[in-house]
Amino acid sequence: MPRFGTVFWTPGNHELWTTSADGLRGEAKYAALVRVCREHGVVTPEDDYRTWSVAGETVAIAPTFVLYDYSFRPDDVPAAEAVAWAREAGLVCADEQVLHPDPHPSRADWCAARLATTEPRLAAAASRHPLVIVNHFPLRRDQLRLRRIPRFSIWCGTTRTEDWHTRFRARVVVSGHQHVRWTEWRDGTRFEEVALGYPRDWRAEKGIAHYLREILPGPSEPHAEPRYHG
Ligand SMILES: [Fe+2]
Repeated sequence: MPRFGTVFWTPGNHELWTTSADGLRGEAKYAALVRVCREHGVVTPEDDYRTWSVAGETVAIAPTFVLYDYSFRPDDVPAAEAVAWAREAGLVCADEQVLHPDPHPSRADWCAARLATTEPRLAAAASRHPLVIVNHFPLRRDQLRLRRIPRFSIWCGTTRTEDWHTRFRARVVVSGHQHVRWTEWRDGTRFEEVALGYPRDWRAEKGIAHYLREILPGPSEPHAEPRYHG
């Protein structure tokens, strides 16, 4: 008997690394991962968004893959100098060596292509239901909590998703990548960073409940003003 009702998957950067085991790069690597998911009945960003009725509301669950484009950087750092700016602080994401964008010229170009195909699908889905958007990378730069490595921001998302939660009327936005769990509300949308992080970071004495996040129905916004619909 399966342990889970439905499993959704969206890639993080690590899954997209080219490994010696298969040698696949970029889109070919992603396509191979999607194939594996589908063989196991796992819903991917390439599949129709599933709807789910919970607490009297039907939402569409949208796993998305849009990567990053180095735009999470200070305004006075040009895009072409973003990696050098991070390197000045001793930071280079391993993606620079092993996350290849093929056939796109750059990871930023791959990100732009992903945005171009993803946003119309989100818009269509949002015209029918509120969404739960699930993206490995946080949607907004002001949600980064990289206190010890702030310049790692350039590998963490794209400013082009910063209005997604209102544009696509997200009930909840789920992200990972930062390995720091947090919950916050913005414009009535709940944002959940749910990353488990590395096993070495886990504290078994805290129990599994400490690490899991209920997405829906989930907690209500504290001290929220009532919203009137009509
Ligand atoms: Fe990640």
